[in-house]
Amino acid sequence: MDKDTPVPSSDRVVVCVPRHVAIIMDGNGRWALRRNLPRTAGHRAGVKSVRAVVEESVHQGIGVLTLFAFSSENWRRPKSEVNILLELFMSALRAEVNRLNQNGVRLRIVGERNAFPEKLQRRIAEAEEVTCANNAMLLQIAANYGGRWDITQATRQLVSAAREGRVVPEEVDEELISSLLSFQDVPDPDLFIRTGGEQRISNFVLWQSAYSELYFSDLMWPDFGVDAYRGALEDFARRQRRFGLTGEQVDTGAEIRSD
Ligand code: IPE
Ligand code: IPE
Ligand code: MG
Repeated sequence: MDKDTPVPSSDRVVVCVPRHVAIIMDGNGRWALRRNLPRTAGHRAGVKSVRAVVEESVHQGIGVLTLFAFSSENWRRPKSEVNILLELFMSALRAEVNRLNQNGVRLRIVGERNAFPEKLQRRIAEAEEVTCANNAMLLQIAANYGGRWDITQATRQLVSAAREGRVVPEEVDEELISSLLSFQDVPDPDLFIRTGGEQRISNFVLWQSAYSELYFSDLMWPDFGVDAYRGALEDFARRQRRFGLTGEQVDTGAEIRSD
């Protein structure tokens, strides 16, 4: 292509791409209520944004995308809404697997899956199995996930190991704790996005977001499309990450990775 030919916006690739993006997909309920629709219509509409953001992430060369779909606390919602969310999760797993395969996406569900109905647990295992050889991107869906749950289950493993004499206190360091958490084999999120206008973490990745860049969008999740996502990625690319160093140290090329 001639260098003066403008790059079509659909081909725009952001320069400094995060290795891992984590997103709180919030605002489905309000999106629906503003349209006089039941909240569940918002959850259905949100699936389209999931598809768009997954495919754009592959296009941008992002290694890991983690989407918060259902928190440990979301069980407190009315039973009818919880049931619809579980059904939607079931049907999306079935409907999207082919598309994920076509895009080379490996799927992993993170969270306490034992609490889900057996049928859903089986569907999750199947979807993970069918996509396990893909390597364009890892898509993590956080379902029945909570940052505190994750730290608690890691601590439980650590206490068992100590009781059995497999670990002594001096061996406990950040690396060991990280290795027991749900995202043990992926880099920490570089970019943490929340849609829906709220500026809080709501028990999403806690340990791993220590140095994530936070980005809050006022758009409700069903309205968060490719352009809005690119805006977040471009904003990320303009930030200076310092990891405790001075800006001057970063400018002169000192080690800036946290890991
Ligand atoms: C996020 O949208 C989806 C889930 C929590 C499952 P919400 O359902 O929280 O939507 P709002 O925040 O009520 O608008
Ligand atoms: C966070 O959203 C959980 C998900 C998006 C899955 P919530 O809507 O549950 O968070 P709060 O209750 O507003 O903090
Ligand atoms: Mg919400």
